[in-house]
Amino acid sequence: MSETEINQAAQNLLFTEAHTPKTFGTTPVTDEQIRGIWERMKYAPTASNTNTLRVVVVRSPEAKARLLPLMAEGNRARTTSAPATLILAADTRFHEYLAMLSPHAPDAVAYHEARTREEREATATFNALLQAGYFIIAVRAAGLAAGPMLGFDKVGVDAEFFGDGRLGALFVLNIGEYGPDPYRPRGPRLEFDQVVSSI
Ligand SMILES: Cc1cc2nc3c(=O)[nH]c(=O)nc-3n(C[C@H](O)[C@H](O)[C@H](O)COP(=O)(O)O)c2cc1C
Repeated sequence: MSETEINQAAQNLLFTEAHTPKTFGTTPVTDEQIRGIWERMKYAPTASNTNTLRVVVVRSPEAKARLLPLMAEGNRARTTSAPATLILAADTRFHEYLAMLSPHAPDAVAYHEARTREEREATATFNALLQAGYFIIAVRAAGLAAGPMLGFDKVGVDAEFFGDGRLGALFVLNIGEYGPDPYRPRGPRLEFDQVVSSI
């Protein structure tokens, strides 16, 4: 290991020993933990520093009751047991922040305003998904398990939580401590030579 590499225990926590949980413990996830996750994740790179990810924390029984019917049946028990469930979403009006985020590109606000909503949504989604990947790593770095789910009714979630059409849900993320019998055996991954070529 080189001096600049993070230590093996940290690598195990973030990568090799981290799993997608199907059960969660009962310890609550605090606002401070979620803020701490954000404070690390926010340094993820995005195109022109667009920062297009938005996050809605679904934690109270009332909020969970709005989300659960919109989750695929197979995702409901884990979403019920998760101490916190987050809706990760992309902001189609991300450019409203660009004067502050990208002062090096003074024309960016007008450029994005002139694009269609669909064009902006593509930019917002691409960059927010990159941030969302970092978000999962930041959850793991906080010592918690992260369970992403695409099994939900996107049209329904957008209507229920983002009525004005500005945000679009990307995926739903359960977070918390691992529960009993927490995950399936590790599935295989593609090998280096199947993925990486040198030219
Ligand atoms: C974008 C995304 C969507 C997923 N959707 C679901 C889902 O709806 N339900 C589910 O049980 N698992 C879902 N998963 C979990 C994956 O199946 C799991 O992360 C993968 O098999 C790796 O498992 P491991 O972390 O235990 O190795 C999703 C994962 C990702 C990244």
